[in-house]
Amino acid sequence: MRIVGFAGSLRRESYNRRLLAAVGKQLEQRREDLVFESIELKDLPLFNADLEAAGDPPAVVRLKAAVGTADGLIIATPEYNHALPAVTKNAVDWLSRGPRPHALEGRPVAVMGASPGRFGTRRAQADLRQVLAVLGAITMVRPWLLISSAEERLGRDSEPADTIAEAIEKYADAFISWVDRFL
Ligand SMILES: Cc1cc2nc3c(=O)[nH]c(=O)nc-3n(C[C@H](O)[C@H](O)[C@H](O)COP(=O)(O)O)c2cc1C
Repeated sequence: MRIVGFAGSLRRESYNRRLLAAVGKQLEQRREDLVFESIELKDLPLFNADLEAAGDPPAVVRLKAAVGTADGLIIATPEYNHALPAVTKNAVDWLSRGPRPHALEGRPVAVMGASPGRFGTRRAQADLRQVLAVLGAITMVRPWLLISSAEERLGRDSEPADTIAEAIEKYADAFISWVDRFL
């Protein structure tokens, strides 16, 4: 089983990238034949139909190939101004483009997010789920992984805090079962 993931943040110390790494580690620990790969978005240009018309830039080719050949995708999204941040949306927009079927069509996807605030990216995740539904991705229904107070829970140590360890384990188990349904 090959699972890929990206965090919709370019920040070096991104909480969402840390969350993604923690989930990726749990996925690999829970299933022997599972490989997890994290995709970086820092070289991905802003979507521009002129760039696309000239041929997908290398970072786009890599992103589409990584997602398009994966058994499942995990998106860790921050929340900006009560909505989906541009970095996450830009990656999804590139992935929604050809060749048909695009890389998200029929793909098992899981959404999650971390924020220093109280609501743990609930609104951004709701936005993202709506966009993924339009694109025909098969988004895991439950559980939601909403990490609030991220600076305490993902900020200090290399390991996530004990208060979220169990939620991360349950989420990893649920996504493995979700992907298994569609293999
Ligand atoms: C422009 C902007 C708007 C933000 N709006 C929200 C918000 O609506 N809700 C929230 O929980 N956090 C908000 N934040 C705080 C982010 O959750 C915080 O910067 C977080 O660290 C971003 O995720 P990252 O650590 O993965 O980069 C905002 C941050 C920025 C820069």
